[in-house]
Amino acid sequence: MTGAEERWYQTAVLYEVAVHSFLDTDGDGVGDIAGLTKRLEYIQWLGITTIWILPILPSPMRDGGYDVTDLTGVRGEYGSLDDVRELLVEARARGIRVITDFVVNHTSDQHPWFRSARQPGSDKRDWYVWSDTTDRYSDARVIFTDTHDSNWTWDETAGQFYWHRFFDHQPDLNFENPKVQEAVIDAIFFWLDLGFDGLRLDAVPYLFEEEGTNCENLPATHAFLKRIRSEVEARYPDAVLLAEANQWPEDLLPYFGQGDECHMAYHFPVMPRLFLALATGNTAPIIETLADLPEIPDGAQWAVFLRNHDELTLEMVTDSERAVLNGHYAPHPSMRKNIGIRRRLSPLLGGDRRQIELLNAVLMSLPGSPIIYYGDEIGMGDNVDLPDRDGLRTPMQWDATASAGWSTAPPDRFYQPVIDSPDYGPAEVNVADQRPDPNSLLNWMRNLIRVRPAEMGTAPLELIDTGDQGVLGYVRDEVTVFANFTEAVRSVSNTGGDVMAGHASVTPASVTLQPYGWVWLK
Ligand code: NOJ
Repeated sequence: MTGAEERWYQTAVLYEVAVHSFLDTDGDGVGDIAGLTKRLEYIQWLGITTIWILPILPSPMRDGGYDVTDLTGVRGEYGSLDDVRELLVEARARGIRVITDFVVNHTSDQHPWFRSARQPGSDKRDWYVWSDTTDRYSDARVIFTDTHDSNWTWDETAGQFYWHRFFDHQPDLNFENPKVQEAVIDAIFFWLDLGFDGLRLDAVPYLFEEEGTNCENLPATHAFLKRIRSEVEARYPDAVLLAEANQWPEDLLPYFGQGDECHMAYHFPVMPRLFLALATGNTAPIIETLADLPEIPDGAQWAVFLRNHDELTLEMVTDSERAVLNGHYAPHPSMRKNIGIRRRLSPLLGGDRRQIELLNAVLMSLPGSPIIYYGDEIGMGDNVDLPDRDGLRTPMQWDATASAGWSTAPPDRFYQPVIDSPDYGPAEVNVADQRPDPNSLLNWMRNLIRVRPAEMGTAPLELIDTGDQGVLGYVRDEVTVFANFTEAVRSVSNTGGDVMAGHASVTPASVTLQPYGWVWLK
C-alpha cells in the first residue's frame, strides 16, 4: 500500500525515550515530563514525527516502570497529569505524535489489586492467576532466565502460588475474569482520552493461559486484542495500537489480525539478523527474513529498530546464530542478560561510525517505521556495572559537563550515574558539541531522516541478487539500496539511479562500496 491511503504511523520515524533519563527540570535527580516537553524542540529538529515514551505510570521501579501500581496515574517524580496534557499540546503544536507504553499483562505486587488479592476471601483474588501447586501450565517457558526458574511464586498470605511470566514481583492479571478485561479497557481509554495518539501494548502474547499449551499467542489473547481494537477504533479511529510480541514471523502476523487487531507490531526477527550479518560479513540471514516477509493487512505496519531499552534479544535466532552473536558482541559475560546482550548500539559496534551508519541506513530503508532509541543518535555508551538493563537507560548527555547537563541535582541523587567511561562520557559524547558540527553522528542521523522518503515505510520491497553475499541489495519504490556488510571494498552491478544518500563510486556498469559502505540510489 502506498500514497494517499497511508496512515500517519506508516510514515512515522519514532523516537523511544525514557522520561526519567531525558531531562530533570526540578533538580531532584529524576527526569520529568516537563523535561521532555522542554526538549521537544530538539526532537522536532532531529526530524522525529512520533515519540514513544516508556511507562510513566506509578511504579516502585523494580522493572523500569513496567511494574505498575496504578494503571491510570503518573509517577510522582515525573510530574502530574497536567504536565502530560501540556506535553501532548506542545507536541501536537510541533506536529509530533506521542504514544505511551501501557502495561497490559501484569502489575506490580504492590498494586492495590494484588495487595487485596492476597488476602483470604478477597473479591480481588480472581484478578490474578493462582494455583495450589506449580504443576499448572508447565509447558510455558521462563522468560527472565537469569533470575527465575519458575513462573510460579508462593505467597504466604494467600497460601497459594501466583503466576508471573516476568519478575516474581509482577503477578500476571487473570484475563479470564471479565472485571479485569473491563478495568484494562477503562485504563486504555483513560490514556486515549488524555490525548495520546496511541499505546504500546506491553507483553501481549501472554495475556491468557491454557493447559497443554506454551501459554503464548492463544486464541483468547487474540480475541481480547480484537475487542480492544474495535472499542478503540469506535472512539479513536486515528489511534494506533503497537503490539510488543517477541515472536517468530508466523506467530507475529496474527497480531495484525485481518486488519482488526493491532495496527503495528515490532519486527523482532529481522533485528538480530542485521547484527549477525555484520558479524559474519554474510547477508544471507537478512535476505532470508526479508524474502519471507509476509503480506500484512492494509493499514498495518511493522515497527523496526536496532536497539531499545531492553537487552538485544536473541530469542528469535537459532542456537548456533546465538553463539556467534554472543561471541562477537558480548565477549564478556557481564554484557549478557537473559537471552540477549545488554549493550547500546555504539559500543556494540566498537564505536565504528561506518558500521553505525550502515545499520542505520538499512534500518531507515526497511519496510516499516523505524525507531531510534534516545541517545543512539549521538552514539551514547552503556554501563554494564549497573544491574539488570539499567546500563542502557542512563541520563541523556546534553552537554560536556560532568552532569551531562541533564540535571542540577548533586550527582549522588541522580537516579543512575551518568556514563563516565573515557570513550563515552559527556565530554566525548553530547548533543551540544554535535549539533553545530556538520560532521557529527547527530547531523548525519538528521540528514538521513530528512532524505528518507515517507514512502519507505510501506513501499514494496524487491530484493536484488547482488551476486555477493556480503552486499545486501533491494529496491524500495524508486530507491535502490546497496549495503556492504564486509570490511573490504566490494563492487556489484549497477541497477541504475543517482546517489541520494550514502557514498559509492557509481559507473554505468558498477557500484563500488567502501568497507561497510552503503548507498541509496534514486
Ligand atoms: C517488556 C519490556 O520491554 C521490558 O522492559 C519488561 O521488563 C518486560 N516487558 C516485563 O514487564
